[in-house]
Amino acid sequence: MTSKYEEQTATGDNTTTKSGGVVSSVVNWIDDRIPMTRVWNMHIAQYPAPKNFNFWYLFGSLAILVLVNQIVTGIWLTMNFVPSAEGAFASVEYIMRDVEYGWLLRYLHSTGASAFFVVVYLHMFRGMIYGSYQKPRELLWLFGMLIFLALMAEAFMGYLLPWGQMSFWGAQVIISLFGAIPVIGEDLTLWIRGDYVISGATLNRFFALHVIALPLVLVILVFLHIVALHEVGSNNPDGIEVKRKKGSVAEEDKPKFKFHEYYTSKKDVVDAIPFHPYYTVKDILGVAGFLILFCWVVFFMPEMNGFFLEAPNFEAANPLKTPEHIFPVWYFTPFYAILRAIPDKLFGVVAMGASIVMLALLPWLDRGKVRSIRYRSVWHKLNIAQFVVTFLILGWAGATPQTVQSTILSQICTVTYFMFFVLLYVYSKNEVTKPLPTRLTK
Ligand code: HEM
Repeated sequence: MTSKYEEQTATGDNTTTKSGGVVSSVVNWIDDRIPMTRVWNMHIAQYPAPKNFNFWYLFGSLAILVLVNQIVTGIWLTMNFVPSAEGAFASVEYIMRDVEYGWLLRYLHSTGASAFFVVVYLHMFRGMIYGSYQKPRELLWLFGMLIFLALMAEAFMGYLLPWGQMSFWGAQVIISLFGAIPVIGEDLTLWIRGDYVISGATLNRFFALHVIALPLVLVILVFLHIVALHEVGSNNPDGIEVKRKKGSVAEEDKPKFKFHEYYTSKKDVVDAIPFHPYYTVKDILGVAGFLILFCWVVFFMPEMNGFFLEAPNFEAANPLKTPEHIFPVWYFTPFYAILRAIPDKLFGVVAMGASIVMLALLPWLDRGKVRSIRYRSVWHKLNIAQFVVTFLILGWAGATPQTVQSTILSQICTVTYFMFFVLLYVYSKNEVTKPLPTRLTK
C-alpha cells in the first residue's frame, strides 16, 4: 500500500500541510503568493540524496552551522566593539570582562573562525577524494573556491580588528606582499591601507568589509553553491550517478535530465532517498558530535595553546615594537610556508597565488573518467596521500620560526605540492581503474 507521502511525492503534490487548521491556512496563504512549500520540498524535504552518504558528507551542513554562528556572534560583538585605533583593543577587553557573556560571544566567534577552516578543509578534501569537482559539478567547485577566497579575506580582516600586536604586524606583512607586484604594487598597498602605514583608517575599512561586505558575499556565494549542487544533484562516495528507473520520466528525458525537476517523483531514481527525514536526522547526530568538540574548545581551551588566539595579541598594537616572530593564524600557514620557501618576494607571491589557483583548476587537471578514490589507481591514492602529508608539513613549517632546515623542508614540500597537480594531469588521462559498480554500494 502506498502512503499519502508517496502518492504526493509521485504526483508532485505539495499540499501535505494544507488540510484545515490555522497553520495550514497561513501556509496556504503564503504558498499562493510565494513558492514556500515548493522550495522546501524541492531543496530539503524531497531532495533526492544518494543513499550512501558517509561521514564526509557531514561537513557541508556543518559549514552552514558555523557560518550562522559567525554571523550571529559577530552581530553581538559589533554592539560593543569600537572600530578605532584608540578604542579597539580596550573595547575587546571590555567585552571580555564587563559585557554580560561577552567572553562567551568572543570565544564562540574566535573558535568559530578556526572551526570554519577545519570544516571547510575537510569538506574540500571530501570533494577531492570522491572527485566531486568533475563534470558536471565544475561550477559548484568554482563557487566553493570563491567561498574559500572570501573566507580567507574575511578571516584576515577580522584578525586586524582586536588591534593586538599580531593583528598589526600580521596585516603589515600580508599587505606589504602586494607591494611586490611590479608597477602598481606601491600604489596598491597605499590603496588597501588607506594610509602610508597601517592606521585607524585601515582598521575602519577592514571593519566595514568584515562586518558587512564579505559576509554578504559569503552568504550569496553559499546560496549559489547550493543552487549549483541541486541543479546537478549530489555526488557520493561511489562517484557514480544515481540510477534513473527504466521507463521513468528521468530515463526518457536523460539528455535533458535536470535533477531538481524530478524531486517529487522520487520513484524515477533508485538509490536516492529524501533528504528529510533521513539526512536531517543523520546531520543532527553529526552536529551534536561537532558541538561537543566545539564547546570543549570554547570552554576549556579557547586559545588552543596559541593556535587560535596568539600570545602577542594579548598586547595592544605597537608600531614601534616588532614581535620576535610573526606568523599568520594556523589556517594560513601552509600557504605562508610556500611564500617563504621562495627567496624572491614576487615569485613567492606568485607561487602562493598559484597554489590556490591550482585547486580551482582541479576539474580540468583531473582528466580521469572515474571519480571516486575507491575505484581509482594506486597512483592516485599515493598522490592524494602525499598531498595530505605535504599540506600538513607546510602548515607546520609556516607556523615555526624560519631556519635553514625549515626553509629546505618548505621548498621540498612546495615542489611536492605542485607535483600533485602535475602528476594528476599526467596519469589521469590513461589511468587503469577498477570496474565501477552499476548501482550504489553501501
Ligand atoms: C561557507 C562554506 C561552504 C558551505 C556553507 C558549503 C555548503 C555545502 C553544502 C551544504 C553541500 C551539500 C552537502 C555536502 O555535500 O556536504 C556542499 C557540497 C559541496 N561543496 Fe560546499 N560549502 C562550502 C565551501 C566549499 C568549498 C570551499 C568547496 C571547494 C572548493 C566546496 C565544494 C563542494 C562540493 C564539490 C560539493 C558537492 C559534493 C558532492 O556532492 O560530493 N564547498 N557544500
